[in-house]
Amino acid sequence: MRSIRRLLVGVAILALAACSREPGPPATPAGIAAATTIDFAHVANYAAPPLPAYFDETVAALDNSPASNAADDRVATLGRVLFHDMRLSTNNRTSCAGCHQQRFGFTDPMRFSNGISTAGTTDFHAMRLGNLRYWRPGTMFWDRRVVSAEVQASHPLHSLVEMGWGGNVGGIDALIRKMSATDDYPALFAWAFDSPTITEPRMQQALAQFVRAMVSHDSRWDAGYAQVFSPTAPNRALDVDLANFTAEENRGRHLFMTDVRQGGAGCAACHRPPTFALAADARSNGLDAGETRLFKAPSLRSVGLTGPYMHDGRFATLEEVVDFYTSGVRDGPALDPRLREGREPRRLDLDAGDRAALVAFLKTLDDPVLTTDPRFSDPFRR
Ligand code: HEC
Ligand code: HEC
Repeated sequence: MRSIRRLLVGVAILALAACSREPGPPATPAGIAAATTIDFAHVANYAAPPLPAYFDETVAALDNSPASNAADDRVATLGRVLFHDMRLSTNNRTSCAGCHQQRFGFTDPMRFSNGISTAGTTDFHAMRLGNLRYWRPGTMFWDRRVVSAEVQASHPLHSLVEMGWGGNVGGIDALIRKMSATDDYPALFAWAFDSPTITEPRMQQALAQFVRAMVSHDSRWDAGYAQVFSPTAPNRALDVDLANFTAEENRGRHLFMTDVRQGGAGCAACHRPPTFALAADARSNGLDAGETRLFKAPSLRSVGLTGPYMHDGRFATLEEVVDFYTSGVRDGPALDPRLREGREPRRLDLDAGDRAALVAFLKTLDDPVLTTDPRFSDPFRR
């Protein structure tokens, strides 16, 4: 009898203890709230923003978000702070946003970027980040060398050129010590993760969620396509002229969307609408003879905002890009069969008007909403 009573008391105490651990609304992280314009009481919607009808299950099937890092508005908000915080570099001179500038579609107009010092530059051109979540393989960097956006997020932090946390300065542990000593980060991590501990995996989760939230669907092409899209129309109505386009833009749109065998330029076979991310099975595009590396391209959305183009920024303008596809594709082991004609690299039969039309179409993919959306902007009051 007494042991039963003791048991009941024990259960009651356990239940009370469990109740007292129920997560209440987490306290606003005061330090970062004062340093930024973020409204921590009304957190922005990163996890489930409204999408156009044509971003349907066919597009969701391409999403590379892992189940282990499901989108969460608070974690993505932490990602926004990390992305823009220059304290994440050794000398407080640069942040992710230094090379991924929102107004240019999250890329850098420089061919190769400076990080913590002007003495060194990156080996590749900085990539636009819009719609990177719809590259199905989920691998990151031009040469696809890292497996995910999570793993990628550590690379610029560790890089001696980019943010500087190499072994010489104590690596990522030194960064974590620096962040832990600030007034704002422990409270911000507690707000996002219910625990103030700063770890590299948590930074990876937050940064990956933030960059995956950069979904682009507000270009002029979207405004026109929304009027004609039907899931049951032939080719989802991608071949229909758009009412808000000029004749030249519609000509370019037609060339982009249409297969080479039907007189088009065959671009959409690799740069897939509506996300304009690269097709999951695409190989390289033949920039150099004998190329063995498999490259990816970022989504072509906002490609018109700034050059240069390709992994090494070799082309300054979109005109040069289109000239390359017309007559410059080179053969090599990595060349995609879509850019071959028989055993030769494909040459396109495009006159000057066609080439100008393709460029005009590419510029309709610029997204003035993603490039100004406050959810992705620099939150710091400087
Ligand atoms: C010094 C300039 C610089 C900084 C700082 C920088 N990046 Fe980058 N970023 C690049 C370059 C250059 C590439 C392409 C590198 C490559 O392919 O090897 C790139 C590629 C990426 C990619 C791959 C995109 C894709 O589609 O494959 C992501 C994601 C990314 N950066 C996010 C970040 C984040 C997050 C940070 C901050 C932690 C950051 N970058 C800091 C220059 C920079
Ligand atoms: C076989 C697939 C394939 C086809 C077809 C294709 N591309 Fe590409 N495209 C790529 C790849 C891969 C890259 C990245 C190459 C690199 O930098 O190494 C790329 C890069 C680009 C870029 C530069 C992107 C950037 O961020 O720098 C543009 C613009 C572009 N392509 C436009 C086009 C146009 C226009 C067409 C049609 C004439 C076309 N592509 C056809 C695969 C393809």
